Amino acid sequence: MTAPVSLVLAGTRGLGFAIAGELLKRGHRVAIASRSEDNVRDAVEQLGSYGEVIGHATDVRDESELAGLVERTRSELGPVTTLVANAGGPTVGGFESLDEDDWNSAYQLNLLSVVRSIRLVLPDMRAAGSGRIVATGSSSVRRPLDGLTLSNVFRPAVNGLVKDLAVQLAPERITVNMVSAGRIDTDRVRRLDQVRAERAGLDAEAFRANAQSAVPAGRYGTPDEFAAMVGFLVSPEAAYVTGQSVLIDGGLVPTLP
Ligand SMILES: NC(=O)c1ccc[n+]([C@@H]2O[C@H](COP(=O)([O-])OP(=O)(O)OC[C@H]3O[C@@H](n4cnc5c(N)ncnc54)[C@H](OP(=O)(O)O)[C@@H]3O)[C@@H](O)[C@H]2O)c1
Repeated sequence: MTAPVSLVLAGTRGLGFAIAGELLKRGHRVAIASRSEDNVRDAVEQLGSYGEVIGHATDVRDESELAGLVERTRSELGPVTTLVANAGGPTVGGFESLDEDDWNSAYQLNLLSVVRSIRLVLPDMRAAGSGRIVATGSSSVRRPLDGLTLSNVFRPAVNGLVKDLAVQLAPERITVNMVSAGRIDTDRVRRLDQVRAERAGLDAEAFRANAQSAVPAGRYGTPDEFAAMVGFLVSPEAAYVTGQSVLIDGGLVPTLP
C-alpha cells in the first residue's frame, strides 16, 4: 500500500508541528507550511528523522500561495489524501478592541483558509476514492472565551462547515472532523498567559500555575497529546467517524456534548 500524503498547514510549531510528527510516525509522507522560511527549514530538519517531510513557506491567508503549496506537494509527494487545516490564532481582544482589519484577517486566517484548502485538495481525495480532513480549533466551539471575540465567532463557523461537509462527503469516503484545544502548552498559550498576567498585574509564572490548576487534569496538555487524536481521526480505523468535534482539554469545558 502506498503511504498517505498529508498536508499540515501551520505545521512548523505548536500543534501543527506535533501533528506533522505524529503523521510521520504513522508512515505518512508529510508536507508542512507556515509563513517563515526559517521556521519551515528548522521544522523540516527536526522532523526529518521520522520520515519523508517537505516544507514550503506559505501564508494560509493568501489564496495563490495556498494553491501553489498544494501544487508543489502534489508534484513532490503525490496527491494529497489527508489535510490538516491548522492556522495561527486570531487577534486577541474583546469586541470593542477589534477593527475592520482584525475581522478581515481572522476571516481569512481561521475560516477562509479552511474553505480554500479543502477546495484545493478535494479533487485528489475524490480521485483516490477516500480522504481525511481535520480542522483544528478552540474550546470556543463549546463555550465563548473571555477576550477572544474572533475565536468565539470563527471557530464555531468552522465547526458548522465540518458538520455540513461531513454529510456531503461521507458517500465519497471522505471524513471531516474538528479537533479543538483547551490549553495545550504551546508558544501561543505562553503568549496569551503573559498578556493576561500583565493585564491582571500578576507575575507570569504565578498566573500560569493558577491557570493550570484550574484545569481538572491539573495541568496543560502537551502538543503530542493533541496530535494523538488527530492521528487516530486520519487513520483507516476512523473511517466511520465523521462530522465530529472533539475537545482535547483535560476536562476544562464541562458542557454537553
Ligand atoms: N494551544 C492551545 O491550547 C490552543 C487553544 C485554542 C486554540 N488554539 C489554536 O490552534 C492553532 C494552533 O495553535 P498553537 O498553539 O500551535 O499556536 P502557535 O504555537 O502560535 O503556532 C502557530 C503556527 O502557525 C503558523 N502560522 C501563524 N500564522 C500563519 C499564517 N498566516 N499562515 C501560515 N502559518 C501560520 C506559525 O508559523 P509562522 O510564524 O512561521 O507562520 C506556527 O507554526 C491556532 O489557531 C490557535 O489559536 C490553540
